Amino acid sequence: MLSKKLQKALNDQMQAEMSSAYIYFSMSSWFKAQNLNGFASWMSLQAQEEMDHVMKIYGYIHDRGGEVELRALPAPQKSWKSPLAVFQDTYKHEQKITGRINDLCALADSDNDNATRVLLNWFVTEQVEEEANVLGVVETLKMIEGHPGGIYMLDKEMAGRSASPEVA
Ligand code: FEO
Repeated sequence: MLSKKLQKALNDQMQAEMSSAYIYFSMSSWFKAQNLNGFASWMSLQAQEEMDHVMKIYGYIHDRGGEVELRALPAPQKSWKSPLAVFQDTYKHEQKITGRINDLCALADSDNDNATRVLLNWFVTEQVEEEANVLGVVETLKMIEGHPGGIYMLDKEMAGRSASPEVA
């Protein structure tokens, strides 16, 4: 059985993951409006991955006999000044999510809840990958800043992202 404290923290995390999906859908929509369809597709897949993260926690809370609480989501930002600003925000957001996962790990450890720790270990690994992917895009965008041709080429490359097996 999950402790009440851990159950609340996992429900909070579910809200944070759903909120991430909302933010990334908003970013995808902004890219679409700029006619940057490769970036839009990349962000849409990112949003779908976040929903997959929600479902992982949702299933886990049920498996442990806990109670799922679905919360209201804040409305996401609607526009950005450049593709670089979008990805800088994404990187900051993912760092925040990593911090939340680390706090959850500490809570699971203090509860001696090994099953939750195993669930969270997946998220620890996932965050390393997410931060690295996003930072890679930030660095590329910095390199090509002010060069529309570079943005055009990167947009084509971003279109090549395919869904992860869990999302496909
Ligand atoms: Fe679910 Fe991007 O962290």
